[in-house]
Amino acid sequence: MALREIVKDGEPLLRKKSRPVESFDAKLHALLDDMLETMVAANGVGIAAPQVGILRQAVICELEVEGSEEGEILEMINPVITSKKGKQIGPEGCLSVPGKRCDVLRPECVTVAFQDRYGKRKERVLCGFNAVVASHEIDHLSGILFYDKEVKVKKK
Ligand code: CO
Repeated sequence: MALREIVKDGEPLLRKKSRPVESFDAKLHALLDDMLETMVAANGVGIAAPQVGILRQAVICELEVEGSEEGEILEMINPVITSKKGKQIGPEGCLSVPGKRCDVLRPECVTVAFQDRYGKRKERVLCGFNAVVASHEIDHLSGILFYDKEVKVKKK
């Protein structure tokens, strides 16, 4: 595994659409391993392939697991949100946009269809924090950054 450089906001690449992954090969596995190492080293809870300069539809999320200190690492290849339910608003940041945080409107729950690193088709329902992370990372594959969806919340 190797650390990869994180592409920062301002680079046009971050605004481009990623292409689907077609080969579930050693090159993809190396990319995913590197993305995880890069995410962990940067203290992130999610990372998308374009953030390491690769315009392919691959993301990694560190999900919260109820009743556990340890998160679950979920790799999603060619992810598609197939349904959304409810709403939540909360602060987000991004490894590609250091120093910026703002409130974003997200679904409370999302259903995601995706493939694993071997190409096997899967589906997960993610809610709460996990829905935020998944939505944020999947947005990167369309060139969308979290602050595009900023909502101004009246503070007490
Ligand atoms: Co991000």
